[in-house]
Amino acid sequence: MPDAASEDAVLLRGIWKRFPGVVANAGANLRVRRGTIHAVLGENGAGKSTLMNVLSGVYRPDEGDLVIDGRARRFSSPADAIAAGVGMVHQEFRLVPTFTVAENVVLGASPLRIDKRDISARVDALADQYGLAADPTRPVWQLSMGERQRVEILKALWRDARVLILDEPTAVLTPAEADELGGIIRRMADEGRSVIFISHKLDEVKAFCDEATVLRGGKTVAESLDVREIEPTRMAELMVGDAGASVAERPAPHPVGKPVLELRGVNALGSRGLPALIDADLTVNEGEIVGIAGVSGNGQRELADVVAGLTPTTSGSIVLAGVDVAGRPPRVRFKAGLAYIPEDRLGVGLAPALSVVDNAILRSYRAHRRGPLLAVERCKRFCEGLVEKFGVKVGNVDDRIGSLSGGNLQRLLLGRELSGEPRLVLAAQPTRGLDVQGVRAIQQLLVDQRDADTGVLLISEDLDELLTLADRLFVMSEGRLLAEFDPTTATRAEIGAAMAGADGAMR
Ligand SMILES: Nc1ncnc2c1ncn2[C@@H]1O[C@H](COP(=O)(O)OP(=O)(O)OP(=O)(O)O)[C@@H](O)[C@H]1O
Ligand SMILES: [Mg+2]
Repeated sequence: MPDAASEDAVLLRGIWKRFPGVVANAGANLRVRRGTIHAVLGENGAGKSTLMNVLSGVYRPDEGDLVIDGRARRFSSPADAIAAGVGMVHQEFRLVPTFTVAENVVLGASPLRIDKRDISARVDALADQYGLAADPTRPVWQLSMGERQRVEILKALWRDARVLILDEPTAVLTPAEADELGGIIRRMADEGRSVIFISHKLDEVKAFCDEATVLRGGKTVAESLDVREIEPTRMAELMVGDAGASVAERPAPHPVGKPVLELRGVNALGSRGLPALIDADLTVNEGEIVGIAGVSGNGQRELADVVAGLTPTTSGSIVLAGVDVAGRPPRVRFKAGLAYIPEDRLGVGLAPALSVVDNAILRSYRAHRRGPLLAVERCKRFCEGLVEKFGVKVGNVDDRIGSLSGGNLQRLLLGRELSGEPRLVLAAQPTRGLDVQGVRAIQQLLVDQRDADTGVLLISEDLDELLTLADRLFVMSEGRLLAEFDPTTATRAEIGAAMAGADGAMR
């Protein structure tokens, strides 16, 4: 039972958490009032996820106090935290793909043998109550990222979480889905629940949250700021610790060379066997960034997979740096000079069970071989060079890659891909989930590639990013590449209309 005398749902004091070689939390504090939405802010590696893992019972802190609803607590497992009313939706979802929505929601929480239809009806009622549209009978593997997230939230509500932690929930959402989520969490707060919201997008924090706490280097540098009172630029300053945070400027134009990627009449099917990429014609030349804008799920993933060779084409030709690669495996494309930064960092891009070093050399291991054996020291030096050059924060390069924060994973992946002097860089959502400095660093790396006469194909949901970086811009909608835009003259309204135009025509 909540202690009525305490209006604090959560009080964390002096939390320390150390990992080998890294101090993730160094005396962090957090106070979350009941019935409010509280933002936890900080750069990549600031210790946000770690602190939330402490609060949700995943980690035991080395030092510090946890008080939930006025009662001191010591959690030995997530189950303890759930029993105390604390639920967490992690950065990477933890659902069972072959189970239905309803089965996932009740999994582990309903020991009684309840009738299947009864469960579905009850999950449906809960979903309705919060506006979390999700068909309880559908298997999870068929759902979009936004739908999966709703299932994770339902799971926490099913267990009656009074404190709900959402770790970068909007990183996987479209802008419209993110707005919807804002409404859903407000409803929860109005009911007296508390929501902890982690995001790198300060406009969302401004729109959704009541208070904010800023972490830097594992410490709390500003606590319980009133979000209505504080400017987003000030929040950004607190996060980076200096005046930073000006808007990235458009890079100077660069002369364009020969084509490095040519798609002609390319068609491909999506995961449900329906046409997902339709008659794609596209050229990327040396020394230019070609941007692809659009709402996710309109064929961007298939476009990337077709270029990387991860999805077969049903017709059309693909020429990469002069090599006809249609129907050829990914290896042939990498040899021809492709660098691929996939949307799915821990799926296609990196191997979670391997160490940082092993992941770093995954693409170039032949070059690190002396005789039949890998030269261990050389691999390590190569990896340490990458870590240094691309600013990856890592305790020990022999650790499993799973211990890196989301942003640091992305830096390592980019570093690895760009170190091979590619002819074409294919980057899908490369800055998603990164903090201000991380975004800037990665955008600069893409511009550097362009200036070294590499072709860059940049797929992004962030229109500002595309308008700043792209030399030419296409809108993708319903599997088609629509009209080409000149980003120096096109307006957001024109591009937005193109995104919506084909959509309207389908109805
Ligand atoms: N299990 C672990 N083992 C070793 N180091 C870890 C582990 N978890 C986190 N770290 C390290 O602790 C630091 C803080 O990581 P954390 O994931 O809390 O950052 P974050 O603020 O959530 O960053 P991001 O915005 O990138 O998600 C990082 O340097 C990270 O590499
Ligand atoms: Mg994190």
